[in-house]
Amino acid sequence: MAGELVLLTGGTGFLGYTILVDLLQHGYRVRVAARSHEKIAKVRAAPSIVALDPTAAQLMFVIVPDMAALGAYDEAVQDVDFIIHAAAPLHADHASAVSGSDSRKVQSLEDAFVTACVQGNLGILQSARDKGKAIRRIVMTSFTVAIAPADFFSNAAAVAQMEGGEEVIRGPEARIPVPEPPYNSQLHAYCAARTASLEAAETFANNHTLRFDLISIMPSLIFGKDELATDTDSTRMLMYRLLPQMPSKAPVDGDTANNTYQGEIVVVGNAVLCTDVARAHVRALDPIVKGTQSFVLNTDARWEDTVPITKAHFPDPFDSGVFWPGGPKWFTVPLRWDTTKVRDVLGVELATYDAKIKEVVDEYLEKAGSRHG
Ligand SMILES: NC(=O)c1ccc[n+]([C@@H]2O[C@H](COP(=O)([O-])OP(=O)(O)OC[C@H]3O[C@@H](n4cnc5c(N)ncnc54)[C@H](OP(=O)(O)O)[C@@H]3O)[C@@H](O)[C@H]2O)c1
Repeated sequence: MAGELVLLTGGTGFLGYTILVDLLQHGYRVRVAARSHEKIAKVRAAPSIVALDPTAAQLMFVIVPDMAALGAYDEAVQDVDFIIHAAAPLHADHASAVSGSDSRKVQSLEDAFVTACVQGNLGILQSARDKGKAIRRIVMTSFTVAIAPADFFSNAAAVAQMEGGEEVIRGPEARIPVPEPPYNSQLHAYCAARTASLEAAETFANNHTLRFDLISIMPSLIFGKDELATDTDSTRMLMYRLLPQMPSKAPVDGDTANNTYQGEIVVVGNAVLCTDVARAHVRALDPIVKGTQSFVLNTDARWEDTVPITKAHFPDPFDSGVFWPGGPKWFTVPLRWDTTKVRDVLGVELATYDAKIKEVVDEYLEKAGSRHG
């Protein structure tokens, strides 16, 4: 609603920035909790913010260097009506957890992902309870990885075995136990972090009498235009290697880190457009939407369709060698989600996979073109 103040975390990242733009476009005032002045300057200089030209009363920033610190958000929550909490470590460079001995690495993966996410969620809830007298709702970003076993995302056999060989359909109310440590990979630690932080937030909300309610938004893999990305190396623009570029060296069998990888990749076919995810977060603030519920956001994607769809919309980059029809063979794990509430309750129609490809490839080609000349 126009003029209400929203505290937004993660606003210097891909999704959070898109939420920020949507909030401003819909008349909210926004206080962004950021970790550095450098990131604040980047957000202020991004195209949609420049175009919207918000006043100092419409867009403000507060520095919160460590979301896991005790009372980190005590100041940031003051006078706000809503919170959207989208901050979370997503990569090892956020986590700085990739060096040291194996046991130190495993421990630091747990600290950097699981502890940070859980403390971040609990810390913002505690600050809201103790210092945010006007807060009516907190919308938290989660992830579909929080509510399905990690094996489901990359292993068709595991899905078939666990769910009797049927195509799996999971809804927003599905929950799983928190995977036990040790976490031996970033992915493992990240999935555990999302499950543990969702459970921690919901348990906190259930066990305390609060003035506000909680809504969790669980998107699948988010694709889309990334205004904060400065070059074409962004994973968002390369579509997670679904669209390989022409190899600069001979294709390599078995080297998954290499752009020329020739093998097979089996992974769950789930994707959602970033602007749809942002819209869902902002729609969830509306008082006509009941609190204490969750939403799963996803449209089914068949990864093996990516190259044919792209070719149909953008034939030239294949002719000129920008994209390469070779590369790994993708196989899609059939894990489906029940997203009906997103349309019925939030009124958001999720974009098709085809539309997502068009948006991402369009931005990629624009950025590549401007970079080369
Ligand atoms: N990307 C996806 O495909 C996807 C899918 C489903 C759910 N999600 C969820 O969506 C949310 C945003 O993801 P994203 O793709 O936008 O990631 P992103 O671009 O990496 O942005 C992450 C944001 O969180 C902040 N952050 C990271 N670690 C932090 C920490 N320890 N303390 C405080 N802030 C921290 C970052 O701040 P800096 O800018 O200072 O680094 C940044 O603002 C996350 O909760 C993620 O789990 C993402």
